[in-house]
Amino acid sequence: MSGRPPVEELTPAAAAAELADLAAEIARLDAAYYQDDAPEVTDAVYDARRARNNAIEARFPDLVRADSPTRRLGAAPAAGFARRRHLQPMLSLGNVFSEADFAEFCARVRRFLGLAEDAAFAFVGEPKIDGLSISLTYEHGSFVHGATRGDGSEGEDVTANLRALASLPKRLAGAAPALIEIRGEVFMTKADFLALNAEQERAGRKLFANPRNAAAGSLRQLDASITAGRKLGFFAYAMGETSAPVAATHAEYLARLGAWGFAVNPLSRRLKGEGEVLAFQAEMAARRAALAYDIDGVVYKIDDLAWQRRLGFAGRDPRWAIAWKFPAERAETRLEDIRIQVGRTGALTPVAVLQPVNVGGVLVSRASLHNEDEIARKDIRIGDAVVVERAGDVIPRIVAVIVAKRPPGTAPFAFPTHCPVCGSHAVRPAGEAVRRCTGGLICPAQAVERLIHFCARGAFDIEGMGEKTVAEFYEDGLIHGPGDIFRLAAREAEIAAREGWGEVSARKLIAAIAARRRIPLARFIFALGIRRVGETTAKLLARHYGSFSHWRAEMNAAQIMGSEARSTLGNILGIGPAIAEALVDFFAEGRNRAVLDDLAGLLEIEDAEAAGAAQSPIAGKLVVFTGSLTTMSRAEAKARAEALGARVTDSVSRRTDYVVLGAEAGSKARRAAELGVTTLSEAEWRALAGMD
Ligand code: IVH
Repeated sequence: MSGRPPVEELTPAAAAAELADLAAEIARLDAAYYQDDAPEVTDAVYDARRARNNAIEARFPDLVRADSPTRRLGAAPAAGFARRRHLQPMLSLGNVFSEADFAEFCARVRRFLGLAEDAAFAFVGEPKIDGLSISLTYEHGSFVHGATRGDGSEGEDVTANLRALASLPKRLAGAAPALIEIRGEVFMTKADFLALNAEQERAGRKLFANPRNAAAGSLRQLDASITAGRKLGFFAYAMGETSAPVAATHAEYLARLGAWGFAVNPLSRRLKGEGEVLAFQAEMAARRAALAYDIDGVVYKIDDLAWQRRLGFAGRDPRWAIAWKFPAERAETRLEDIRIQVGRTGALTPVAVLQPVNVGGVLVSRASLHNEDEIARKDIRIGDAVVVERAGDVIPRIVAVIVAKRPPGTAPFAFPTHCPVCGSHAVRPAGEAVRRCTGGLICPAQAVERLIHFCARGAFDIEGMGEKTVAEFYEDGLIHGPGDIFRLAAREAEIAAREGWGEVSARKLIAAIAARRRIPLARFIFALGIRRVGETTAKLLARHYGSFSHWRAEMNAAQIMGSEARSTLGNILGIGPAIAEALVDFFAEGRNRAVLDDLAGLLEIEDAEAAGAAQSPIAGKLVVFTGSLTTMSRAEAKARAEALGARVTDSVSRRTDYVVLGAEAGSKARRAAELGVTTLSEAEWRALAGMD
């Protein structure tokens, strides 16, 4: 790993710290990969982390942690599916990346088996498809259940989904052991992956990062009919438990799999010795780009099953098989431009526009630049000569700038602070990597998504304004922003004339919209789709501020750091700094304020009842806090009082109902006594406010 000291130079303390970091990081990457089907890094980066972890553990065996990645396999099964225990664990494979690594693997095998240094043995080479491995159990020739790998001992029971796969025999043809576990890879072809993503995009659903994630996402559907609609392939390649031996060599085993009715990768080949392995590796690397599916290397398995048994496993990896991974494919080209795309959630993502270049058989003209920090860290400039890499997944990335070839006159890239689509402020909250457009309500890149949210249940809940209608109306210019929805009445005839509509349905829609002109404040706030403001937060805000006009005025006032309004907002119970910042950002954008004014003129926004205000003994009371409180901050006490419908002020007057006395209360306590205003201790206040 670049930037880290060589393992030989690590002190035990530094090694322990790094192992702790690596354990946490790899666990997170595993969860993203296996449970969310959304990898955070490329396979090459992941492999580098694991390799570093293994190297440190090899040098400091005493420091191997209980939660070490080498003691775990993949990730535990996700919730939603029943668990299924594999009869034989489903293991992983060690990796090699070069001829020398592979020779070392062979030398280890010879040493382990006590063979002569020049002893030859046969392998079977199989393209390593990047899909997801599953285990199938057959009893008396019938498919009974199947599971994903999960953590290696236990996976998710995806039997119903697997039944939907045409390439999987439900009955084995010919004689078979009474009980047998068969393992293989479920995958999606590159073409089917692209078609699926195009379909996802049309439907406004999330895109899959690569064919592997698409295959995993398609198989791990709680609704098996969705799996049935996706095109998934399956190749069988390994054995788990079996009640009777089925072959003497792996090649024979593959032949049996074929005879039983399984698809076996037709490129798999028996190879006599290391020379043939080298040739096969080169052949597969050359054919890789033309294959219908992604492969990231070749798996070599020792053909003799008796030797496989003797070799057994070392930790999570078999000693009898190895994955020889292809190097990530790289090429040099020029960065012509950096474009900023705005996603449906307002995220600004930089995309590299490249002089088209052939990277391992694929013409690449766009690459991911990740985010703002990545560009700054690598000092990537428009005009630079860059190295692009295409790893297992399909989105290429820029790995380095060739500074020596930098043309004169370039400048560091200035990441825009305004949305390139709508011109609104684009802000980046502290601690986050992504900059976002704040003009959600009017930004064309986000408008459809926001309008759908605006009309959806929990928000305006307008019957008839579903995803499809909103998208169509937006595309045809009937609506641009939320206010336009309430101006549709004037266009009823136009709607009635639309394809698929008619007078009755148009009238119904207009009536449904009219019925929503009156809306509770909480729903209104939620409908705005302000980042981080979900239903619960919207309710909190509504209860706290009571009316639209008060909320709006306070949010405007909160623009000023250190203002009373700002600290009040930040101190509302349940509203953390991130939410406060999101609200401030939203109101900082003039276009958003214009939308609010527009809506305020069209709607009747109902005031919110303060929480429990009706029952609360302090509802409507005027309260003053003084002295230092010991069980809560002044701000929390104030927020709580306001949430219960009280008004909190700073000075004691004849109208004051209660003065709450903290420690060392001074002049205000005296004033209360003079005026005969009721005083409460902190404990008495807590009891009255129902805080205990
Ligand atoms: S054999 C004990 N054969 O690679 C042997 N695995 O890195 C276990 N894979 O989880 C696996 N093609 O998802 C084997 N022909 C092949 C494979 C293959 C792809 C995947 C599989 C496994 C991973 C291990």
